[in-house]
Amino acid sequence: MSHSDSESAYFNNYPPPKALPKHESLAKSFIEYHVEADRRLVLVTSGGTTVPLENQTVRFIDNFSAGTRGATSAEYFLEQGYAVIFLHRQFSLLPYSRHYSHSTNCFLDFMDEGPPNDSNNSGHGPIVVRNEYQTEMRDVLRKYKYAKQNNRLLLIPYTTVSEYLFELRMLAKCMKPLGPNALFYLAAAVSDFFIPRDRMAEHKIQSSEIPPEFSNEEAVGSDDIYTGGFERKQPTSSKKLVINLDPVPKFLHQLVDGWSPEGSMIVSFKLETDPNLLVYKAQTALQRYAHHLVVGNLLSTRKWEVVFVTPEAPYERWIRVPKSRRSKSISGDEDQVGLAEAAKRQSEHPAVAATDAEEPPQDGDGHFGSREGTEIESLIIPELVKLHSKMIDKFHQQ
Ligand code: PMT
Repeated sequence: MSHSDSESAYFNNYPPPKALPKHESLAKSFIEYHVEADRRLVLVTSGGTTVPLENQTVRFIDNFSAGTRGATSAEYFLEQGYAVIFLHRQFSLLPYSRHYSHSTNCFLDFMDEGPPNDSNNSGHGPIVVRNEYQTEMRDVLRKYKYAKQNNRLLLIPYTTVSEYLFELRMLAKCMKPLGPNALFYLAAAVSDFFIPRDRMAEHKIQSSEIPPEFSNEEAVGSDDIYTGGFERKQPTSSKKLVINLDPVPKFLHQLVDGWSPEGSMIVSFKLETDPNLLVYKAQTALQRYAHHLVVGNLLSTRKWEVVFVTPEAPYERWIRVPKSRRSKSISGDEDQVGLAEAAKRQSEHPAVAATDAEEPPQDGDGHFGSREGTEIESLIIPELVKLHSKMIDKFHQQ
C-alpha cells in the first residue's frame, strides 16, 4: 500500500474531531495575521496521544509524555520572535503556566494572604505572591501577557492519536501560505499502534462474562484473544485481555511530501531508551523521511542532552547542559549522559576505547534558565533558529 493509500485508509476509518472546523478557522486567521507581518511561525506538537480501547471510551493506552519538551520549547521560540501554534495533548503542560502547574510546583505554595484590608472591613487580606517568587513570577507573567496581547500563541488541544493526526494534517495544510517561514517541531510522543474502528468495542470492555441477551456484539477470537466483543465460551478463570493493535501509518512521509508548505523546515524527534540505538535510529529516520533534522533523545537523559542529526555536516552534534547547570530529575539518570555518544564512537572505531563524552565545551553557561537550572530547550531553540535562518536564505537565493 502506498503512503497516500494508507493515509486515506486511516482517515476514512475515523470521523474527524468535532472541534476540527473551529480549530481550522482559528488557525487560518492566526496564520494569515502572521503571514501579513512576514513573521516566522512554528507548529510545536507536544505531549502523548491516547489510543482508545472502546468507542465509548473508558480505557485507553497512553504514554509517559507530560509535554515538558513542547511547552518549554514553545516559550523559547516565542522569545526568538516566532509565532507559535501549540498542538498539545489536552491537560498536558502549557507554555508559561507550566511553571506553576502539576504536582511538582503547586501554584498555591507561591501565594500568601496579605494583612486584612481595613478600608472594606471584610477581615480578608488580598492574595499576594510570596516575596521570594516575585521576580520570577513577574517575568513569567510579563512574557505570558506579551504573547497573549500580541497574538503570538495559539493553543490547539487533542487527546487521541487520530485527533492528533487530523489536527496535524489540517494545520500543515493551513500553513502553506507561510512558505519557508514555517517550521514544524514534532515533539509529541505519538503512538505507533492503534485499534481500527471496525475492531473496536462499542461499550466498556467487560472483565467478566455477560449473558448473551445483554450483548449486541459478535463473539470474537478464542479464550485469550479478546478485543472487547462478547465471547460465548465461559471463562475458566479471570479473563485475560489480549489487545490486537495495528500500526499507525508513519505520517512524516505525508507531512514531508504533501501537507507542509514548500521550503518549510521539518524537525522530528526520536526517542529511545537504549543508548546503543539512539543515533542509528535517528539517522535511519532522517534517511527514510528525507526531512531536515532529527533531534534524538534518551528517555533517561532527555533533560540534559540531545543529539542533532542532520543530512549535512556535521551530521551529528550533541547539545548538553553543562554539569553544574543540570536540574535534578527523579525520572532521569545523570550517569547515562554521554553513553549514547560513546556507544556511537565505539561502533565506528571498535579498537579505540570509548572516551568519556560527558562534558564537551559549551558556549556560555545557560543564561536562560529556571529556578532548577538550565533548561536544555534554551540551548536547542537558538541552534535550531540558526538552521532555519540558513534554510530561509537558501530558499530565497534559489
Ligand atoms: O514531553 P516530555 O516528557 O518532555 O518528553 C519529551 C519527548 C521525549 C516525548 C520528546 O522529546 C520526543 O522525543 N518526542 C518524540 C517521541 C516519539 O514519538 O518518538 P518516535 O521514535 O516514536 O517517533 C519518531 C517520529 O515519528 C516523531 O517525530 C513522530 O512525530 C513521528 N511519527 C510517530 C508515529 C507515527 N505514527 N507517525 C509519525 O510520523
